[in-house]
Amino acid sequence: MIVPGSASQALAAALADETGRPLATPEFHRFPDGEARAAVPGFAGEEAVVVAATTSDEAFVELLQLQDAVREAGAETVTTVLPYMGYARQDRAFEAGQPVSARATARAVSTGADRVVLVSPHEPGVADFFDVPVEVVGAASLLSEPLPDGLVDPLFLAPDESAEALSVAARDAYGGGEADFFEKERDYDTGAVTVTPGDAVVEGRDVVIVDDIVATGSTMSEAVAALRERDAGDVYAACVHGVLAGSARTRLAAAGVERVVATDTVERAESAVSVAPLVARAL
Ligand code: R5P
Repeated sequence: MIVPGSASQALAAALADETGRPLATPEFHRFPDGEARAAVPGFAGEEAVVVAATTSDEAFVELLQLQDAVREAGAETVTTVLPYMGYARQDRAFEAGQPVSARATARAVSTGADRVVLVSPHEPGVADFFDVPVEVVGAASLLSEPLPDGLVDPLFLAPDESAEALSVAARDAYGGGEADFFEKERDYDTGAVTVTPGDAVVEGRDVVIVDDIVATGSTMSEAVAALRERDAGDVYAACVHGVLAGSARTRLAAAGVERVVATDTVERAESAVSVAPLVARAL
């Protein structure tokens, strides 16, 4: 049975369709003191697949409760699908005394799961923080699907060198074009991001910037603006996880983006393609 977290209802339904498995309908309750309770009253079966993007602290607690609820209801195996794993970018202690939050949260999830399916984590090493087997599913190739056919001399750019594999995957899936990356620097005190285009010629070309996540939109909007200054053609912002926090959409619009496309790992208006077929293969 597929068990959706409240932030992953459309994806869970797509996964149920894809796999032919039944879909549970959890109940979410909030007590007067603010505590939450997620229950799965109709759970039946021996295998539970809990699908929950941990987009907030509440979503994390909810996931732990759903894992526990299906065990209580008789599930013998619990597979937890993390379409988007919050805290994954805190994958090291940046200063003495700070936590490795990705590890702490991964360990907590591991207590209630037999295995985990993790979609496009920020760094592959995040998978090592879990105490149960993890299958990592890379979803960047899907980002070519919502793009228009006939992009002009397309250039797929990652915002930094470490993300180059994402732009290559999207370019390969699109079936043509060049793949490259920007140089990126982030000021960790102010959060400001500076991107410097590499050697690729952008003038007159349609450009797709491909990243794993758009959170505040600083990285992506800086990249879009840098391309517009260099007279690129249409500039698309493509990301696996469209967190799009705060004023991210406004920043992107102000920078001159043509369109933002994302998958449904985080369910947003920009979710133009589903990771359900990829996740189904990993179950
Ligand atoms: C960083 O290395 C990631 O790949 C993203 O570029 C970054 O996390 C996006 O964050 P923001 O939207 O806040 O700039």
